[in-house]
Amino acid sequence: MTSLQDSGAGTLVQIQQLAELAEQALERYLPAAASAPTRLHEAMRYAVTGGGKRIRPVLVYATGQALEMPVEQLHGPACAVEIIHAYSLIHDDLPAMDNDDLRRGRPTCHKAFDEATAILAGDALQALAFEVLIQDLAEQSRARYGCEMVLMLARATGHLGMAGGQAIDLAAVNQKLGLEELANMHRLKTGALIEASVLLPTVFCEKISDKQKHALQKYARQIGLAFQIQDDILDVVGDTETLGKPQGADHALNKPTYYSLLGLEGARAKLRDVHKAALDALSEFDQPADLLRGIADYIVERSH
Ligand code: IPE
Ligand code: IPE
Ligand code: MG
Ligand code: MG
Ligand code: MG
Repeated sequence: MTSLQDSGAGTLVQIQQLAELAEQALERYLPAAASAPTRLHEAMRYAVTGGGKRIRPVLVYATGQALEMPVEQLHGPACAVEIIHAYSLIHDDLPAMDNDDLRRGRPTCHKAFDEATAILAGDALQALAFEVLIQDLAEQSRARYGCEMVLMLARATGHLGMAGGQAIDLAAVNQKLGLEELANMHRLKTGALIEASVLLPTVFCEKISDKQKHALQKYARQIGLAFQIQDDILDVVGDTETLGKPQGADHALNKPTYYSLLGLEGARAKLRDVHKAALDALSEFDQPADLLRGIADYIVERSH
């Protein structure tokens, strides 16, 4: 069994290495483009590939590293969260939602294919994520963890997770949300899947204490919120080429964001607070959690 130890490389290099590990693992689970139904398979592959940051699978691997778990056990959950994320982006970009044409520097899935194919690719990816999770456990004779992991991923994805957050986001267009409501929307639409990325490995980690689990949950909540606050900030201060998606899209749709509610300085101050709370939550852990600390820094410093 291989353990993911800190190789001494800098955080960004480690993130890059783990992102590549996720890409190789994803390749094993994605359907071949040449197999039927080819157009659907091409659209699924298009949405999953093409240069995402892979921060959710990287978090799965980094949590595994913090808990000194074997990397072989982490590919299934790592791929499952990234596949759910890819599905959520396809639907988020549709004309009925954010109506965006550009994603990861390329035409969005419905532009590269067509709306019906994009909707189906999203549907099929959502199902594939659960298949990957269960298949991976079954192949390793660890199916006993399946129920709890499926429950965790389903809750993060569904009506009280990502999809619920997206519903609040759509209903909030042209509305002025309070800070609590905004935080709740962000916690669901983006935070829930990030939280699941950190917590899925804890389901089958035999030596984890309740205190450590609680600490990871607190860390995950904070970085999930931080991730979307920085996404809101980048919509204002980023540029389309670096972002790979249209700058100013939130403003054009009059979306409630941390920037629209607090202004740039207010949003940045909130981001600093949330970042600090994420690091504080990890005081429970020693050096093996350094990558999780580095990821918290990366999330608030990233430019795309
Ligand atoms: C974009 O997510 C959607 C949000 C939840 C803010 P990412 O910024 O992780 O997108 P990719 O995967 O790197 O393209
Ligand atoms: C999307 O939030 C969250 C998802 C669940 C996909 P955004 O709408 O802000 O994401 P981007 O900015 O389009 O990537
Ligand atoms: Mg959106
Ligand atoms: Mg969007
Ligand atoms: Mg955004």
